[in-house]
Amino acid sequence: MDKKKILVIHGPNLNMLGQREVGHYGAETIDDINRRIAEKATAEGLIVDFFQSNSEGRIVDRIQSAIGEFDGLIINPAAYTHTSVAIRDAVLLLDIPVVEIHLSNIDKREAFRHRSLIADVVSGRISGFGGKGYLLAIDAVADALTNADRK
Ligand code: DQA
Repeated sequence: MDKKKILVIHGPNLNMLGQREVGHYGAETIDDINRRIAEKATAEGLIVDFFQSNSEGRIVDRIQSAIGEFDGLIINPAAYTHTSVAIRDAVLLLDIPVVEIHLSNIDKREAFRHRSLIADVVSGRISGFGGKGYLLAIDAVADALTNADRK
């Protein structure tokens, strides 16, 4: 059987991890996090690809181009979580497991961060566990794909 392919999308300002509000987001850089994700994915027998953009339109384009190419999506839309109908609509185009992830616990922060425009169109959300959350997300997608195969 072909290996399943997972796409990880990092939204705006996540390229600055390690230098950015370390109290909220931790000291790991995006490369550190991606390395850990890649190790975990390989151990699970999955192929993983990464995309980061500070631009809403480029994120929409990447989600659209994932159709038919990827079996699962892990997405941290960062600030666009709270504002982007366009990213929500793009996620709705997908028929694969989608995990919403945040490094910080968005429900413990400012009120404007409590609202996620994708929360009700994803498989589930992981929030508040820093970089480790991405590893939990890989597990969640791997389980969802295994269970889908059993159907
Ligand atoms: C974030 C939370 C968002 O509110 C914020 O705008 C980010 C990162 C997180 O990972 O905790 O940029 O998505």
